[in-house]
Amino acid sequence: MESALTARDRVGVQDFVLLENHTSEVAFIENLRKRFKENLIYTYIGSVLVSVNPYKELEIYSKQHMERYRGVNFYEVSPHIYAVADNAYRSMRTERRDQCILISGESGAGKTEASKKVLQYYAITCPASEHVQTIKDRLLQSNPVLEAFGNAKTLRNDNSSRFGKYMDIQFDFKGAPVGGHIINYLLEKSRVVHQSHGERNFHIFYQLIEGGEDDLLRRLGLEKNAQQYQFLVKGNCPKVSSINDRNDWKIVRKALSIIGFTDDELLNIIASVLHLGNVQYGGEDSGSAYITTETQIKYLARLLGVDGTILKEALTHKKIIAKGEELMSPLNQEQAASARDALSKAIYGRTFTWLVNKINDSLAYKNASVIGLLDIYGFEVFQNNSFEQFCINYCNEKLQQLFIELTLKSEQEEYEAEGITWEPVQYFNNKIICDLVEEKFKGIISILDEECLRPGDASDITFLEKLEDTVGGHAHFLTHKLADGKTRKVMGREEFRLIHYAGEVNYNVNGFLDKNNDLLFRNLKEVREQAQKKKDIYIYTAATQFKNSLAKLMEILMSKEPSYVRCIKPNDAKQAGRFDEVLIRHQVKYLGLMENLRVRRAGFAYRRRYETFLQRYKSLCPNTWPNWDGRLVDGVSTLVKHLGYKPEEYKLGRTKIFIRFPKTLFATEDALEVRKHSLGMSFSQKTKYRKMRQSAIKIQAWWRGILARREAKRRREAANTIRRFIKGFIYRHQPRCPENEYFLDYVRYSFLMKLHRSLPKTVLDKSWPTPPPALIEVRHICHESVISTIINYSRCELRDYPFLSFTGFRALEQKMVASEIFKDKKDNYPQSVPKLFVGTRLSEFSDINPKVQQALGNEKMKYAVPVTKYDRKGYKARNRQLLLMANSAIIVEEAKLKQRIDYSSLKGISVSSLSDGMFVLHVACEDNKQKGDVVLQSEHVIEALTKVAICADKMNSININQGSIKFSVAQGKEGIIDFTSGSELLIAKAKNGHLSVVSTAE
Ligand SMILES: Nc1ncnc2c1ncn2[C@@H]1O[C@H](COP(=O)(O)OP(=O)(O)OP(=O)(O)O)[C@@H](O)[C@H]1O
Ligand SMILES: [Mg+2]
Repeated sequence: MESALTARDRVGVQDFVLLENHTSEVAFIENLRKRFKENLIYTYIGSVLVSVNPYKELEIYSKQHMERYRGVNFYEVSPHIYAVADNAYRSMRTERRDQCILISGESGAGKTEASKKVLQYYAITCPASEHVQTIKDRLLQSNPVLEAFGNAKTLRNDNSSRFGKYMDIQFDFKGAPVGGHIINYLLEKSRVVHQSHGERNFHIFYQLIEGGEDDLLRRLGLEKNAQQYQFLVKGNCPKVSSINDRNDWKIVRKALSIIGFTDDELLNIIASVLHLGNVQYGGEDSGSAYITTETQIKYLARLLGVDGTILKEALTHKKIIAKGEELMSPLNQEQAASARDALSKAIYGRTFTWLVNKINDSLAYKNASVIGLLDIYGFEVFQNNSFEQFCINYCNEKLQQLFIELTLKSEQEEYEAEGITWEPVQYFNNKIICDLVEEKFKGIISILDEECLRPGDASDITFLEKLEDTVGGHAHFLTHKLADGKTRKVMGREEFRLIHYAGEVNYNVNGFLDKNNDLLFRNLKEVREQAQKKKDIYIYTAATQFKNSLAKLMEILMSKEPSYVRCIKPNDAKQAGRFDEVLIRHQVKYLGLMENLRVRRAGFAYRRRYETFLQRYKSLCPNTWPNWDGRLVDGVSTLVKHLGYKPEEYKLGRTKIFIRFPKTLFATEDALEVRKHSLGMSFSQKTKYRKMRQSAIKIQAWWRGILARREAKRRREAANTIRRFIKGFIYRHQPRCPENEYFLDYVRYSFLMKLHRSLPKTVLDKSWPTPPPALIEVRHICHESVISTIINYSRCELRDYPFLSFTGFRALEQKMVASEIFKDKKDNYPQSVPKLFVGTRLSEFSDINPKVQQALGNEKMKYAVPVTKYDRKGYKARNRQLLLMANSAIIVEEAKLKQRIDYSSLKGISVSSLSDGMFVLHVACEDNKQKGDVVLQSEHVIEALTKVAICADKMNSININQGSIKFSVAQGKEGIIDFTSGSELLIAKAKNGHLSVVSTAE
């Protein structure tokens, strides 16, 4: 049902309990028809499987199909005989309860095919060992053997089973089939001697004649022509298009050898039956019969291993006991023919039973779990119904009783187990009919036996009268005599009618006594009578035997958990695709399917275990989707409330939900279908997303791989670098070599980078980072290069470097010159470094006397500084101004240009190395105007002398002297200035006539 909305299964419901109008036979048959048209031959009524014979091979029995049904919940897949087989198997394994599958239906409905399918399912899906394989083979091979001996072509079925069969399949604790046991019921022995027109004898006769090897046939005295045998010509139908006797013979021979039949005993008997059939009689004048076919007797004697004379006597005489003496009384021709036929039937019947026993011996196994398979004739109603139909319909009556009892019982048990109040179901209890047939002393079988055994002239008619006397008043019994006028018209005078659960059937009593007595024993009637009198032996009649075997069967079935397969044949023509409604309605009725459905639907149409229900429908409620964490019953309760189930529509049991009406379930199914669609949509989106995600993951993985490889390379290189670095560190004091070059380069590089980051703000800033040893040498170069870079900058167009002013550059250039001249040579040089050089040290140009200005005219003055001039003779100090012009330096005394010294005549300049401001301008004396060197002192000595050096281009002419400076006072005369360090600056004429300068050490 769960897949009811899949395309194929839209055709009809796959469980009749879901029919809205469950009491309508029309709706029932319409559902069958719809499904049949779609080749859906299986439909459930709850757990009962209804199967319609397709009369064609359907592709639904493959190994894959078997796998699909293996271990799957009964309702999760579409109905199938494999589902029934699997369900029974699993119940047997898990609940440790023996199972039985009851297959019923009329002749040709597909019972035997269904039972074979079940057997095949177990043979293929169950576990197997080597031993098990042998048993499996024997189980499977028992079928063709039994079919050869027990099946025949009838008008209704080319392979009709002419016996009832119950087969136990035994399984060991591992679930492997390890044995089997077959019980056969009521073989139609009459077929051995007579067949209706268009029908045949049992298959084995034709198989032997058609397929038997020449040697074999010769030995058996048989001809390769069925027409030669009286027992095979009655139906005038030796050949059937759907049957290949020759092939079947091979199959049967092989099967016989697999089961373990090695001698030809069996075939001797089969051949004997054919020879018996050809035994002919002649009549003597006295009326006694004699045998005219000696050859047959010869063969029979050999094949049966009996004395020919005794055989002949047995076929022409009967034994009677007269006055306590056993006598042989001759039979007339008709009686002899009957005796011959009776013997033939008996031989065949016993051979069949012997065969079944042999098969059982080959399958024997004890101590096992069991699944029983009952393939037994269904209800039979013909134009003329005899003893056989009576037995068969009685059997079906019993099975129906069992079915009702077990179904109701299991329903009731389920309600009880689930804690749901049992709602009584009205049903027809057919016990009343069973009693009518089988009750001791009062039942039809007892009456029949009594008639068979009582002394005097009993006949079929006396039996009928006895019935009228005894059960005439029974509600389910009627005879011509007892019937009303209307019924009499449709009943013969020799008939009695039973109103079965499935319908009315008229039985003709003709032959009842003979058949019940089993003709063979007729001549033992006297023995029987005596035995009956003594009451110590009970002679069983055929009907009683059958009744007893049925009772045993019922016992067997009652002890097991049943599953039901109800087979229906769709038409009488054995044609595919033909759905004969009248015929089917008849079977639906006789199978009791409507009653079955009514019982099943009495309470609730649908029931499922909580987990199954929740699993299927959870997507319909946000609280249960995608998963429900709580108790299952709460989940189901939440779900059905969300779906709007009304309280009267369902009940919650202990493990299952019970839904009363199919429409409730259908609404839920429809909702699921819609939901599936939307889930399907989101599924496609999900698929797309999943694809994208996978792609992304792939790309990420690749990229991560690349990164990881890079990282690994980086680490490898880093490790190498560290190794080289450590080696370099060890070798750092060595001259540059391959071991340390990396280290040295690195140190250099990092120093320069550090230097680059913390470059002094000005050139005057001496706070340079400490260079590594390797760079001490270059420190100076570096410093210079920085300076020269700056100088170069200064030479560039200012507009390119707007951040530096022109004066700024000039000052830096002069500072560079000063550095070159005085750095590390004159003590007070460092103090001059941070002070910027300026253009004049006079407060203003106005400090220059206007007269001087006037005298200078347009001459450009480059520098001016106040100086102290010391007389060359007395070293008297006088305030003067030193002006540096383009071509000369001028010493100014207030308003007077006192002395002009052309730069060309400036020979040199001397200063001390100490930190005093004294300096001497050495002037060439060729010129008379010059009076000798000029001794001056300035607070800005570094600046002033740098300017002089630059203006006069005398950078290399500055002498820095230690201790003293010599200078010329006048032509030929020399003066000396002595320099010493002291605590206080003191400039005075010393006693030795030198000028003594004490400079302060700063
Ligand atoms: N499931 C099936 N698929 C195909 N054909 C089937 C199927 N069931 C039955 N048949 C056909 O119908 C025929 C009769 O089936 P089967 O012999 O099983 O009937 P039955 O109910 O055993 O009859 P009977 O009571 O006479 O033994 C088979 O020989 C086969 O041709
Ligand atoms: Mg059959």
